[in-house]
Formats: sequence, C-alpha cells, structure tokens
Amino acid sequence: MTSLAQLPPHEALAEHLADALRKGEVVQDAEFDALLSPHPRKKSGGFWSAVEVAQTASRWFSEAGATRVLDVGAGVGKACTVMALTSGHRVWGLEQRGVLVFEARKLAQKLGAEVVMVEGQLDAVDPFKFDGFYFFNPFAEHIADKYDLYDANIVPSIDTYLKDARKVERWLREASLGTAMVTYNGLGGRIPSSWVCQKKERLAGNVLRLWVKEREATDREAFVEVQDLLITASMLQRLVKEHPQSPLEDLLVSRLVADWEP
Ligand SMILES: C[S@@+](CC[C@H](N)C(=O)[O-])C[C@H]1O[C@@H](n2cnc3c(N)ncnc32)[C@H](O)[C@@H]1O
Repeated sequence: MTSLAQLPPHEALAEHLADALRKGEVVQDAEFDALLSPHPRKKSGGFWSAVEVAQTASRWFSEAGATRVLDVGAGVGKACTVMALTSGHRVWGLEQRGVLVFEARKLAQKLGAEVVMVEGQLDAVDPFKFDGFYFFNPFAEHIADKYDLYDANIVPSIDTYLKDARKVERWLREASLGTAMVTYNGLGGRIPSSWVCQKKERLAGNVLRLWVKEREATDREAFVEVQDLLITASMLQRLVKEHPQSPLEDLLVSRLVADWEP
C-alpha cells in the first residue's frame, strides 16, 4: 500500500480531506478549495457552500431520514462531495453549466465521493426520485449585477427566475410526505405551507434551514425566506403593496408574490 508521504501533494491532500470528511472532522475551506481549478477556487466564497454548511446540511438530511439527496444547482460539486463523504450515501447534483459538471466529476473522483452529476436544468431530473433537496439560492444570479455572475454563460433573466422558482414550488407541492429540504441563504422562491421549518442555524454568514413536508397542502399559502425572517407570501404581498418604496420591493421573492392569488 502507498503511504501518504509517497503520494504527490495534491493526491495526499485529497486523501487526507476525504478521510477527515468521512470522520466528520473540521476541514478548512481554503484547504478544500485548493483541489479546485483557479476560476472556481476564486469564486468559492460567494458561490459554493462552505464545508461546515454542507456537513451540517448532510447531518440534518440524515436525521430527517433522507438518503437520496439532490443538490439543485450543484456548481462545482463542493456541497455534493462533502455531503456524500459525510453521510456515506450517494448524492446527486444538477448543474446547468457543462464546465462545472466536468469540474464536479473531477472533484468527486479525486476525493473518492459517490456523486452523480446531471448536466441540465430542472427538466433534466425526475424530482420524485429524491427524498431530499438542497438549495443554495440557485436562481439568484438572475438578478445579480454583472460583477456577481459566475461567468458570462448565463444571461440573467427575471422570466427564467420566475419560471424556475414556480417549477420548484410545484415540485414541493407534489412531493411525498416526509421529503426533506435544506435551504442555504434562502430558496429564493415560495415554499408551500405544508412544509415545516424544523431547524435553523446561522453558519458562514447565512441562514441554513431544514424543512420537512409534514402534511398535504390544503391551501395555496406559502412561506418565503427573507434572510433571518420567515414570512408568509400573503403577508409579503400585503407589505409590498402598502409600502411600494420599501427595500422589500427589490427582493427576488417579491416578484413572485406580486401577481399571486393565495
Ligand atoms: C450558488 S451556486 C451553489 C452551488 C452548490 N449548490 C453549493 O452549494 O456549493 C448555484 C448554482 O446553481 C446553478 N443553477 C442555477 N439555476 C439552475 C438551473 N435552473 N438548473 C441547473 N443549475 C442551475 C448555477 O449555475 C450555479 O452553479
């Protein structure tokens, strides 16, 4: 057997990190990100989940009994890889940028993590095959200014944002009871009121929430996440109508509730 000292530095680092993640130990983001290519490494702070965030999400999925988790908008596969090593389960990632799918597959291979990357958009997966969804605010790029974009391959579009957020809302309405979801920095869309927020923690500068579908929907009410606050969609709609000049008007989710009938 090859000893760690004999491996080239990159492979030794990957082996050391994979071992630490399997044991649930603390891993520094700078160390993990050293495995990425230069551009995704440079963008890591704003675009990929911190290791601690993905480890916590993975533990929450396990506690909620979810074993088939899909990261919707998986990017470079950082969260998928950390979750797969933490849980010991295969994790799926859906990503629209082919270049990131390629990177994510390389990353998972380096770390020996069981990650299945699907290239495409929401239509490329069957949501009913999963019992857990992870969202790190994937649709936010559609309202970001041009300095906040990952690259120039996506044309920001409010229409695309609305279409994607509504589709995810339909997934959540139709999901089986007991399905779990973890959102980081908000889903960016409406979450049907049949889902209950069971845990919340502020980690690495943003809010992480565990949601579980606890009952079938009997109305069209929904929650929206506004940073640390959870607010119903009908309340947000009323606030935006009554205070049209307030900063609420600029929120992504405000566009979703503007023309919505509860
Ligand atoms: C903020 S990054 C999060 C990456 C990853 N989930 C993590 O936590 O490390 C969001 C990613 O979602 C992807 N994305 C956004 N909308 C998407 C869509 N409709 N279908 C597939 N991927 C999407 C973007 O290309 C980007 O890579």
